[in-house]
Amino acid sequence: MQKIIIAIDGHSACGKSTLAKALAKELKYVYIDSGAMYRAVTLYAIENDWILDEGKEVDREPLIENLDNINISFNYNSTSGKSDTYLNGINIETEIREMPVARAVSAVSKIKEVREKLVEFQQKLGKNKGIVMDGRDIGTVVFPDAELKLWITANMEVRTARRYKELIEMGSHISVDEVKQNIEARDYEDSHRAESPLKRADDAIDIDNSYLSKEETLHEAVRLVNEKL
Ligand code: C5P
Repeated sequence: MQKIIIAIDGHSACGKSTLAKALAKELKYVYIDSGAMYRAVTLYAIENDWILDEGKEVDREPLIENLDNINISFNYNSTSGKSDTYLNGINIETEIREMPVARAVSAVSKIKEVREKLVEFQQKLGKNKGIVMDGRDIGTVVFPDAELKLWITANMEVRTARRYKELIEMGSHISVDEVKQNIEARDYEDSHRAESPLKRADDAIDIDNSYLSKEETLHEAVRLVNEKL
């Protein structure tokens, strides 16, 4: 059967990756979490002390000079049944979900050279189609010709509650307010940066999942895929 590219974009913590993972599984497609790549670069910068002012600023020069030394890969984890992110051969799946990375990632992801490197990698991964990728610029910049573009939204209360639950389950000691502030700050930074700001593609189809279960959201996405095949 014909394989397509599915681009899923939206603000932070709207359930993009939950949907993208489920959709890829259902269609037997590859799932790529582009946010994990920006998070991996951010972790590399943290490890090298290039993150300044509590995540608001980055020491850009050494990071840009070292971009070729950053190798990101994904490997299937048979215990969790999910794909884990690796940075230079080390599994960093847990660290990249934690708050130090969440606080600094928007400052790192606005750097043009970082985006160029990651977009090139993302486009390579989509060469053979049969891919679901989620992020902020997938339908606008990475795959502007994607056969299906979804723009996922959910209300702030739902988004905060979902992300808070995820972080608490990971063992994080964080307040609901801190989670909300981080989501709002990232939304603002990601939408207002000069390079590939977060934007709905004109030809994207909206799914508001505030009041939909995971299964209902998946069902709607599968219906939209079938319309394209
Ligand atoms: O999707 P996730 O929340 O893991 O993304 C983390 C951050 O990575 C975003 O807040 C954004 O700054 C950046 N990002 C991006 N472009 C993408 C995916 C993520 O700038 N395609």
